[in-house]
Amino acid sequence: MIAKADIKIEKTTHSRVTEYDVNNVPFGKCFSDHMLVAEYANGQWEKASIMPYKDVPMSYAMSALHYGQAIFEGMKAYKNDNGEVSVFRPLENFKRMNKSAIRMAMPEVPEEIFMGGLIELLKLDASWVPTSETGSLYIRPFLIATDEAIGVKASDTYKFIIITCPAGKYYSEPIKVLIETNYIRAVEGGVGFVKAAGNYGRSLYPTRLAQQKGYQQVIWTDGKTHSFLEESGTMNLIFLIDDTIVTPALSDTILAGITRNSVLALAKEWGMKVEERKVSIDEVLKAHADGILKEAFGVGTAATVAQIIGIGHVDNYYPLPPVEERKFSTKVDETLRNIRKGKIEDTLHWMFKVQ
Ligand SMILES: Cc1ncc(COP(=O)(O)O)c(C=O)c1O
Repeated sequence: MIAKADIKIEKTTHSRVTEYDVNNVPFGKCFSDHMLVAEYANGQWEKASIMPYKDVPMSYAMSALHYGQAIFEGMKAYKNDNGEVSVFRPLENFKRMNKSAIRMAMPEVPEEIFMGGLIELLKLDASWVPTSETGSLYIRPFLIATDEAIGVKASDTYKFIIITCPAGKYYSEPIKVLIETNYIRAVEGGVGFVKAAGNYGRSLYPTRLAQQKGYQQVIWTDGKTHSFLEESGTMNLIFLIDDTIVTPALSDTILAGITRNSVLALAKEWGMKVEERKVSIDEVLKAHADGILKEAFGVGTAATVAQIIGIGHVDNYYPLPPVEERKFSTKVDETLRNIRKGKIEDTLHWMFKVQ
């Protein structure tokens, strides 16, 4: 039971929803009518407010901009055929957000603000949730340090905000990924296991270099030896090698993806062998050479399942089996879609109904 939030609500007088075809908008570009804002000051959270989505004034000295106390989450709401809205495993995002907050010396967000605020926001903006087969409302909660002060220290004031935007498919085609053996996303003892904004900023240059070589994403490797695979872009990695699901074990250099957890839960439910362990480049290339690397895909909230059709390593390119032959990842993708759209029973209780 989520505690009822004490939230001040100011509704928009002019909804913009009719200006868009919510079933057909580019990802992350058009924002729904309302946003939630809660402020932290003097050691406590103040009352949260929902208000029309708008730009806000800010100081160029705001500490998040200089010292990187900025964390975020990403999750999705879905609409079933009866028009009811549910969110996929939002309590997991709530818990992960607070793990990020602790690591970044930021205040944890109370459940009644995160979850209570989310429920009220989605009730107001239900008409923004797409009805299409692959559509959803992407939800972006984030927490930023707002002290107007130059000087490296944990901020005394913060803002927690939730904005949302309709989303369709993230990748329209299967992707090619390049194993990155020069640049590093995360190191042991660092912040790779949390959703700190800086993790994403540092990934952009290596990703651009990979894109110049014809790849869509990089696969990050461990920072010490560059011989073990970690994750790809904003997705966890899953392989089907022979008849076993193999995925890099979680560590403090890998984000504990909620989609990854869900895919592994489904695989176990279907009686498949699942191994969470170190996965080396050599092992994957050998499985490819032996013809037993049957499937490779990235999993994450934005893409759900992104099929990998080829892997690059140094100067070599290793094409993978056609997507049509991939029974496991196709079934995972369909099953998750059907659970989210209320087309099959949600036996694992993943959908959180907005009522
Ligand atoms: C670095 C990184 N890895 C993995 C994921 C996948 O996590 P999730 O399935 O919770 O979206 C994300 C997206 O949040 C990410 O940013």
